[in-house]
Amino acid sequence: MESPCSQPPSLVEYPTRYCSKMANFVLLLTLLVPAMSLLPVAHCNDNVGFHLTLTHVDAGSSYTKLQLLNRAVHRSKARVAALQAVAAATVAPVVDPITAARILVTASTGEYLIDLAIGTPPMYYTAIMDTGSDLIWTQCAPCLFCTEQPTPYFDAKRSATYRALPCRSPRCGQVSPPASCFQKVCVYQYYYGDTASTAGVLANETFTFGGSGNSTKVRATNVAFGCGSINAGDLANSSGMVGFGRGPLSLVSQLGPSRFSYCLSSYLAPRPTRLYFGVFANLNSTNTSSGSPVQSTPFVVNPALPSMYYLSLQGISLGTKRLSIDPIAFAINDDGTGGVVIDSGTSMTWLQQDAYEALQSELMSIIPLLATNDTDISLDTCFTWPPPPNMTTVTLPNLVFHLDGANMTLPPENYMYMDTTMGYLCLVIGPSAVGTIIGNYQQQNLHILYDNANSLLSFVSAPCDII
Ligand SMILES: *[C@@H]1O[C@H](CO)[C@@H](O)[C@H](O)[C@H]1NC(C)=O
Ligand SMILES: *[C@@H]1O[C@H](CO)[C@@H](O)[C@H](O)[C@H]1NC(C)=O
Ligand SMILES: *[C@@H]1O[C@H](CO)[C@@H](O)[C@H](O)[C@H]1NC(C)=O
Ligand SMILES: *[C@@H]1O[C@H](CO)[C@@H](O)[C@H](O)[C@H]1NC(C)=O
Ligand SMILES: *[C@@H]1O[C@H](CO)[C@@H](O)[C@H](O)[C@H]1NC(C)=O
Ligand SMILES: *[C@@H]1O[C@H](CO)[C@@H](O)[C@H](O)[C@H]1NC(C)=O
Ligand SMILES: *[C@@H]1O[C@H](CO)[C@@H](O)[C@H](O)[C@H]1NC(C)=O
Ligand SMILES: *[C@@H]1O[C@H](CO)[C@@H](O)[C@H](O)[C@H]1NC(C)=O
Repeated sequence: MESPCSQPPSLVEYPTRYCSKMANFVLLLTLLVPAMSLLPVAHCNDNVGFHLTLTHVDAGSSYTKLQLLNRAVHRSKARVAALQAVAAATVAPVVDPITAARILVTASTGEYLIDLAIGTPPMYYTAIMDTGSDLIWTQCAPCLFCTEQPTPYFDAKRSATYRALPCRSPRCGQVSPPASCFQKVCVYQYYYGDTASTAGVLANETFTFGGSGNSTKVRATNVAFGCGSINAGDLANSSGMVGFGRGPLSLVSQLGPSRFSYCLSSYLAPRPTRLYFGVFANLNSTNTSSGSPVQSTPFVVNPALPSMYYLSLQGISLGTKRLSIDPIAFAINDDGTGGVVIDSGTSMTWLQQDAYEALQSELMSIIPLLATNDTDISLDTCFTWPPPPNMTTVTLPNLVFHLDGANMTLPPENYMYMDTTMGYLCLVIGPSAVGTIIGNYQQQNLHILYDNANSLLSFVSAPCDII
């Protein structure tokens, strides 16, 4: 049975952090759910939510499966290279402010896009959804240096709700690397690894989420965002980024109901799927395909990269065979490298080198096919698969990531690329010198919930294509 609160109204107006303000809280309840006015304050956060369409950057294109895979591998390599650059910069001795500033994670190359609107009246645009960073930003007019985007640059002068934040505002103090002050206004600079960056004014603005078709519309006032007038990097034909990381400036931290979930559709036939926020982010209502239980594992913190969702990985099995991997392979090192991250912005998984080699050698021993490097795919572990009528039947086991308190079980289609036309069978996991990143190919058809309030990742297998 649904509680009266789990049915959100079609339009909710709420200032961010409204739960700390009793007046707003009472007003909200009086207007919307008077019967629930005896609920403790903490519950009000749980009663707001929305869902958005999550679109893969290559959805709707006419690429073949092989082209989709190659594009994904290419994007993924750029992201890992950027992560490496960031990790290196993080540990470098701080010699100058520019070096010190290069602390942020991830390349800007996006994997998934969401639609939202900024300002009053609302201006709709598309942005990259990124769990690897915090800042919400868009390119602003007048632009000193911007990349091309499909919608006009946001013009603060035309919005009734834009407020530049003063240097002494608490939000300005939350910018990392530290913001600077220009004519009493908070000026941020944010780097994504090697090539991408944004700089501009930190400001409050009203954002609108949902509202297309019949979906719930939620308006959030006073959301701190970056109005970027000097930007570089690839925005994947969108107009900005929305950070869903663990830091204070991310959307998920600012809006209060600090939980979201997504269910990524089949990677090589991408179709729009959903991102659930707040009350909608709940795995209990998931139509699971397998009847497998919801599993949960705690997040861990990497002090060098506190915005990212690190997990505790303890081992890997292929079928019933536990691979021989020293658990140190998955540890976060003193210098901030290593560890295991789950990420929405990396297309495929990158496994720490030793773990990768253990997996590769086990695959070679169980797959009765010839290993080859002579393919059109830049992946390190591929096999030739003779086309029909000579095709050999290959039975592949599940791959299991043994996380702290949870087993993430990946069926063959979540870790192998099977191309009968070209005659390839490839492992869609690469070796990494910087640590392990669990990417989107491995997350397909899993409904994954990021519950920041409880510092818990939950997941369950689900047919995401039909959501
Ligand atoms: C919106 O709701 C109306 C009435 O319930 C329905 O006829 C229409 O198909 C819905 N539109 C969408 C886009 O779901
Ligand atoms: C920005 O929003 C915060 C709430 O998140 C509020 O406390 C602050 O006063 C706002 N600042 C301005 C300049 O509007
Ligand atoms: C960018 O998006 C717009 C609108 O969705 C589309 O018309 C255009 O073809 C896209 N451009 C590229 C380079 O993908
Ligand atoms: C599912 O529901 C149960 C009981 O209602 C609750 O204890 C649990 O936290 C929920 N799980 C998730 C992942 O929301
Ligand atoms: C659950 O999914 C199955 C297909 O896997 C579908 O037939 C069924 O209608 C779904 N049930 C609900 C309640 O959505
Ligand atoms: C393919 O090349 C990679 C990197 O050069 C190497 O690690 C791997 O062992 C090669 N695989 C085969 C089957 O030769
Ligand atoms: C299939 O196997 C037969 C007999 O070994 C061989 O003559 C033929 O060339 C093979 N066909 C292909 C497409 O590899
Ligand atoms: C995970 O799988 C291992 C090996 O199959 C099993 O021993 C363990 O109990 C499982 N853990 C959970 C949380 O299901």
